[in-house]
Amino acid sequence: MINNLDLLKDSNENINEYIKNIVENYSVDKNAKVITHGCQMNEHDSEKIEWLLEKMGYNLVEENEDSDLIILNTCSIRHSAEDKVYGQLGSLKHLKKSKPGLKIGVCGCMMQRDESREYVLEKFENVDIIFGTNNIWKLPELLSKNYASNKTTVDIEENSDNLDDYLGANRLYSYKSYVNIMYGCNNFCTYCIVPFTRGRERSREPEDILKEIKFLAENGTKEITLLGQNVNSYGKSLESPISFAELIYRVSEISGIERIRFMTSHPKDISDDLIYAYRDIDKLCNFLHLPVQAGSSRVLKLMNRKYTKEDYLRKIDKIKNVNPDIALCTDLMIGFPSETEEDFLETIDLVKRVQYDTSFTFIYSMREGTLAAKSNEQVPDDIKHNRFERLLDVLYSIQLTKNLNFIGKTCKVLVEDVSKNNKEYLTGRTDEFKLVNFKGNVDNIGKIIDVKIVDANTFSLKGEIIG
Ligand code: SAH
Ligand code: SF4
Ligand code: F3S
Repeated sequence: MINNLDLLKDSNENINEYIKNIVENYSVDKNAKVITHGCQMNEHDSEKIEWLLEKMGYNLVEENEDSDLIILNTCSIRHSAEDKVYGQLGSLKHLKKSKPGLKIGVCGCMMQRDESREYVLEKFENVDIIFGTNNIWKLPELLSKNYASNKTTVDIEENSDNLDDYLGANRLYSYKSYVNIMYGCNNFCTYCIVPFTRGRERSREPEDILKEIKFLAENGTKEITLLGQNVNSYGKSLESPISFAELIYRVSEISGIERIRFMTSHPKDISDDLIYAYRDIDKLCNFLHLPVQAGSSRVLKLMNRKYTKEDYLRKIDKIKNVNPDIALCTDLMIGFPSETEEDFLETIDLVKRVQYDTSFTFIYSMREGTLAAKSNEQVPDDIKHNRFERLLDVLYSIQLTKNLNFIGKTCKVLVEDVSKNNKEYLTGRTDEFKLVNFKGNVDNIGKIIDVKIVDANTFSLKGEIIG
């Protein structure tokens, strides 16, 4: 049994020992599928889960019907995210009837919440294994326990030793990789469930992060996305504190890494050092995701965001002064409890002033256990939907203008893949994270090449390879 924490700790030798153990103990000839909900944190966790499954001998497949094991990596951020999982678990009941050997696992943020976990246990007896966001590394052991006992195996850890850091990841693309730099969140925005599912903020040691990135660079990674819920407070609680900007400088020194991205940064913590990094570090992409949530300072206060509309706009001005061409992205939430038409118009005003290149927009969803859920001033659904549509109209029109401005420019594009919609086209991203479609040879995949932009719409650019 591989229940030995020490095996995973610290050195490559130990992780090799751990993998050797997995390979020796498990050589299953089975198919598995991982279904991922939620944010990049979850996507990266799923890459780790798939890596472990492959080490155990599982073949990863596309179809539920072909699977002997299906793992749902879940998200709690909105009600709809949880409902999707319940819907999928419901339909898997039928598959399990026709395929009794099928094992179903559920992990991720929902399983860290007692209410959701208990609901799954009560309503879906077809679930075999439940684990959380802190103990992915235990999966081989949990699976073997489950095969032996045939009872639902539940293993949740509230606190993390971050042992999952030592796992590899089955990355979709070898040339762009996510790297965790911190976990959890201490901000307790009053609408948000994340501090309850991902726990308190903890930063990884910079040496561990740099070691991982060096390894990735040696294996072909050109673009790194540093992941954390609030990257601007990275490193503050480490024994030898280091700032997020300093970490970026150190990552930029790694040869082979050509692009650095990160998400997500909280406006209250964005430092001048980080702003100047946009001037001084070529490898730092010309793109900043700075979620504002709302334009009304009254609502921002109720959300516990710790900045006003004016504070946010001042920071945006500073960033634009340092880097006038930066592409800006944000998260916006409509219908926070007590939001009035005037508050909403403040959001519209802010959006027009900032001129975002792109955005993620959400309708407020009440999350049990959060402070905002207790409010008796919930906004009616029809008003929320009406405001949401009006907001999208404004955002999309700005987005289209911004994209049209790219026509005629030549952009460096990291070529990602063949386009899903039209196999004749390749797709990639500019430094500004704009999606570009263009005709070209598949040999270009994984390379950074020059593409001239010849057309644009609200959601993407069209280009032609130069040379
Ligand atoms: N840590 C990131 C956000 C992670 S959650 C940050 O602070 O920027 C991603 C987005 O989901 C949030 O920015 C917010 O816009 C949205 N969100 C979070 N909780 C929500 C809720 N209860 N209802 C609707 N949207 C929510
Ligand atoms: Fe949620 Fe706020 Fe933390 Fe982001 S900063 S994860 S919105 S509590
Ligand atoms: Fe969802 Fe958890 Fe991410 S709640 S948004 S998967 S941190």
